[in-house]
Amino acid sequence: MNGEGMNNAQRNADEQRDGDASRDTNELRDLHGLKAVVTGGGSGIGLATARLLAARGADVAVLDLKPDQAKAPLRGYTADVADQLSVAAAVGRAASDLDGIDILVNNAGIGAIGTVEDNDDAEWERVLGINVLGMVRVSRAVLPYLRESVHASIVNTCSIAATAGLPQRALYSASKGAVQSLTLAMAADHVREGIRVNCVNPGTADTPWVGRLLDQAVDPEAERTALNARQPMGRLVAADEVAAAIAYLASPAAASITGTALAVDGGMQGLRLRPVGQ
Ligand SMILES: NC(=O)c1ccc[n+]([C@@H]2O[C@H](COP(=O)([O-])OP(=O)(O)OC[C@H]3O[C@@H](n4cnc5c(N)ncnc54)[C@H](O)[C@@H]3O)[C@@H](O)[C@H]2O)c1
Repeated sequence: MNGEGMNNAQRNADEQRDGDASRDTNELRDLHGLKAVVTGGGSGIGLATARLLAARGADVAVLDLKPDQAKAPLRGYTADVADQLSVAAAVGRAASDLDGIDILVNNAGIGAIGTVEDNDDAEWERVLGINVLGMVRVSRAVLPYLRESVHASIVNTCSIAATAGLPQRALYSASKGAVQSLTLAMAADHVREGIRVNCVNPGTADTPWVGRLLDQAVDPEAERTALNARQPMGRLVAADEVAAAIAYLASPAAASITGTALAVDGGMQGLRLRPVGQ
């Protein structure tokens, strides 16, 4: 065997061993070398996503009003997606520290409770300014960097509220309906630039946000039971489960997927079950 043959044989053996090792530890490093920005990465779904992207090898910048929980290796940046100047400054610093951006996760969002009669114009403008325009502002700032990437991807956090009519969620649902339509329009606008745009649509997920909602309920335990029962799987979605879907859509494994909404909702949107026992 010549030297090159021996090297190839050795390389194959090494690769085989590395493959076995990664299967043994269930460690996936498919995002190694990629740079990611996660908005709202200081809590809940965003924090779970930032941690997962980093565990899979990405260098991750978290942009949040309160990025304190984004501990190393995550890089935390204070930013308000409702404010253009704040977004531009934070994205500029993150891109410089990361040396580019390949992945944007537009996840920062807030809730709103009530019918159309319950929220005034100022509240509509505030919520739409964060949930919809926030994604627009951050995307605008990040797109120039994504154009330089060969694995460019945007994942927006949408919601079951975009596709199912939920009581007392008029403003929140309108904002998430806009996010789903925005996802499709952006996917069309940027597909020829090699930038994929998708969204995830979580059902009710067990995050600090839902904890706060339950705290406001007259009977938090009864409210949690009702939310669990609304999910065909009988339990809330875990933040880690939404993070896994976001990481998949952001990864090179999803290179042929754009303009898609991936439901992570325990079957809430698609299934119609008969009542238990019938
Ligand atoms: N939890 C659920 O049941 C659920 C279901 C469907 C969709 N979602 C969506 O998931 C996303 C994350 O929700 P979560 O449950 O993890 O909430 P969360 O409250 O735990 O986390 C949201 C994060 O966004 C940050 N944030 C809020 N406003 C911001 C702003 N103006 N600028 C920068 N950061 C800001 C907060 O500081 C917080 O760290 C939201 O877009 C939400 O609409 C949540």
